[in-house]
Parts: sequence; C-alpha cells; structure tokens
Amino acid sequence: MGKKERAQERREKRRQEISLLRTIPYSDHQRWWSSDSIAVVTGANRGIGVEIAHQLASHGLTVLLTSRETRVGEKAAKVMQEGGLNVVFHQLDIVDPASIQSLSDWIKEKHGGLDILINNAGVNFNFGSDNSVEFAETVIKTNYFGTKSMVKAMIPLMRPSPFGARIVNVTSRLGRLNGRRNRIANVSLRQQLEDVNSLSEELIDNTVNTFLGQVKDGTWISGGWPQVFTDYSLSKLAANAYTRLMARILSDRPEGHKIYMNCYCPGWVKTAMTEWAGHTSPEDAADTAVWLALLPDQVVSGKFFAERREINF
Ligand SMILES: NC(=O)c1ccc[n+]([C@@H]2O[C@H](COP(=O)([O-])OP(=O)(O)OC[C@H]3O[C@@H](n4cnc5c(N)ncnc54)[C@H](OP(=O)(O)O)[C@@H]3O)[C@@H](O)[C@H]2O)c1
Repeated sequence: MGKKERAQERREKRRQEISLLRTIPYSDHQRWWSSDSIAVVTGANRGIGVEIAHQLASHGLTVLLTSRETRVGEKAAKVMQEGGLNVVFHQLDIVDPASIQSLSDWIKEKHGGLDILINNAGVNFNFGSDNSVEFAETVIKTNYFGTKSMVKAMIPLMRPSPFGARIVNVTSRLGRLNGRRNRIANVSLRQQLEDVNSLSEELIDNTVNTFLGQVKDGTWISGGWPQVFTDYSLSKLAANAYTRLMARILSDRPEGHKIYMNCYCPGWVKTAMTEWAGHTSPEDAADTAVWLALLPDQVVSGKFFAERREINF
C-alpha cells in the first residue's frame, strides 16, 4: 500500500470514529447546558452551518440560526422547528454593521444574552487548481473582518457562567502558519504571527491589508503569500491568529466570566464551497464545532483542532 492509500485509510478510520462519537449521548453529569442556553450560529442556512445548528439544537440548546438571506434562513429554521427543536431565526450579514447591531439588540431584548457563538459564515471563490484574487477583498472582509466584528459584538452579550461561554471559529488547515506546502514565505512575519505574546490585532490587520494593497497594485504574486487559494488561506490564517490573540486576552477575565475561544478545520467537506467535491459529510464536519462548544469539564482555549484532535497552527 502506498503513502497516499495509507493516509486515505487513516482518514476513513478517523471518519468512522467521529461518526460513532457523534452518536454517544452526553450524561446528565456532563450536560452543563439546558434549553435556556443560547447558541448563535452564523451562515447557518446551509452546508456545515446548518448541521452545527441542527446538532446543537438536538443536544437541547436553543439555537439562534442566522443567515444573510431571510427566506432561506427561515426555511432552514422551520425544518428544525417542525422536528421539535428549539430554533429561532434572525437575519445576519457578518459584513454589515447594521445587521450585526440589529442581531445584538434582538438578542439582548429577547434572550438577555448568549452562551455560545459559532462563527461559521465564510466564502471562497476558488476551486481545484484556481488561484484568482478577483474576490480577495470580499474573502478577507468576510472570513477575517466579519468574524472579528461578530466576536467584538457578541462578547459583551456573553452570559456569566461557571462553565465559561464559548466561541468556536470555523477556519481551515489552509490557514496554517507552518503548513509544509502552503505558507507565508517571510520567516520573520511568520515568527511574529506565531508568538502569542507579540501577536496584536494591528499585526494581523496589517498583514491582510498589505496583501490587499498588493492585489490592488498587481504585485501580490511575488509577495510570498500562501500559494494555494491565496486570499482564502490568508483570511483563515488571520482568523486563526485572531483566535489565539483573543483567547490570550480573554484569559484575564475573572472566574465566572470566562470565555473560551478555539478554532477548527472541518476537513474537505461536501458543500457548495467545494462544489460538493470534498470527502467529509457536513454532519461529520460539524462535529468538532459542537464538541468544542459543549466540552463538559476541560478548559480549552486558544487552540486549533481537526476531528476533535489538537493540531498545530
Ligand atoms: N467546505 C469545506 O471543505 C471547508 C473546509 C474548511 C473550512 N470551511 C469553512 O466552513 C465554513 C462553512 O463553509 P461551507 O463548506 O458550509 O460552505 P457554504 O455551503 O458555502 O456555506 C457558507 C455559509 O456562509 C454564509 N455566508 C457567506 N458570507 C456571509 C456573510 N457575509 N454573512 C453571513 N453569512 C455569510 C453563506 O450564506 P449564503 O447562503 O447567503 O451564501 C452560507 O450559509 C466556512 O467558514 C468555510 O470557510 C469549509
């Protein structure tokens, strides 16, 4: 058996394990949440997001299913409501400050706050061996700045709890800092982004803005950026770095007010984003988000996961 086949066999075995783990119910002792616990899921009208919403609601939480298009979001919520789940729809476009504000006001008024935020909404415009940056601005604006705006808007609404509130960002292995075949060429920049103590919002913003500047003036190809799906990889690298930065900042909060923030790669998933070419089902892809959001007794923050296992940034 060749290296490729062995890797494929390992992947298949882990997928089977994940499918099995998903069916194991949480015991009463593990369940820190109730039907009053509120989970917000972004981009939850389809793909991995709709699955995350469905699985969280199936575990008995109240899910605020959000979608930028009202009609499709309402439809997705209705299917789950008809299945007896506590799911409520609200419109949300993560790149529209007015839409984020309207969601915040509504959460405050109707639910008093939230316990879990899953930043799933994202875009990618490349397939196969494409590497166009035609939509780079939208990609960075959505996957990094949109995620960041949601984190900033939701943190003040997160309810105090002895179990800590949770934020999970759906990112990607393509955004790894030290990926073997896909990384930023500039070693010094990589080191700055890697050191959580020197990491800052300004550094992450400057990195993505430098790339966008080079896209505008046509010099990005020689800029030493990740070679695969460059705009998307960089947007996810920025979201990963932001996860580590915020986890560090949030760790200063006093007991009872903790917020844990992690990110994960769902794998290569059969959704519209891959033109259904992936090898992971949306159900299995949603699993790690739900697992991280519901972790019963471990304090985990500022980490990167795939298939319930920690991986390197
Ligand atoms: N599929 C994969 O292989 C894969 C791999 C690694 C990471 N991911 C990540 O997983 C997440 C979900 O992707 P998916 O595979 O489920 O893709 P998808 O089927 O294309 O779903 C993306 C979701 O994000 C929403 N969205 C996009 N821009 C938005 C905005 N500005 N405001 C609110 N919602 C917005 C989309 O809404 P509309 O329906 O309105 O477009 C859709 O609901 C993304 O963050 C993606 O980067 C996916």
